[in-house]
Amino acid sequence: MDWILALLVGYGFGSVPFGLMLTQLAGMDDLRSIGSGNIGATNVLRTGNKKLAAATLLLDLAKGLAAVAMTSLLWPEWTWLAALGAFFGHCFPVWLKFKGGKGVATTAGIAFAYAWPIGLAYAVAWIGLLAVVRISSVAGMSAAVIAPLVAYLVGQNEAAMVLGVIALVVLFQHRANIGRLIAGTEPKVGSKK
Ligand code: G3P
Repeated sequence: MDWILALLVGYGFGSVPFGLMLTQLAGMDDLRSIGSGNIGATNVLRTGNKKLAAATLLLDLAKGLAAVAMTSLLWPEWTWLAALGAFFGHCFPVWLKFKGGKGVATTAGIAFAYAWPIGLAYAVAWIGLLAVVRISSVAGMSAAVIAPLVAYLVGQNEAAMVLGVIALVVLFQHRANIGRLIAGTEPKVGSKK
């Protein structure tokens, strides 16, 4: 039964839509009707509120980290299930009719919880590309793809498998972004589109 608890803890943490909740608490319009319609930090930034965007980023990261850290203490053999639960919970939350986010910040938390070098590589790729390219989706997708490779290189095979599955779903969740990138219409960070 431990596996069910690990999955529920992971999914429970992951499915909390912090971006949507914080913007609603601040009295803003439904985040899903703004910009890309995503519930993540990048889209919160499009509301013009940098503090709420930063809080969304940190909380979405923290829920992935907490789910994996807690499960690795309680039911270590089911850590992978909690990690996937947290990620899928963020992307497909039952509370939002399974229409959630794209998983980039939550995956950062999962990467850090597995092993700090994976998290560090994820953060460096993500922040570095964001600084250079200034397109959030490019930075996020690149970090997600790099993470399983780094996990494999540092001998974290379970993390490599989990992050490999996550990377594929991150790419799928960014399908609209990929379409806009090909069309040359993907907005840069800071733009209100
Ligand atoms: O983390 C989400 C990001 O990669 C893209 O967000 O709002 O530009 O679709 P958005």
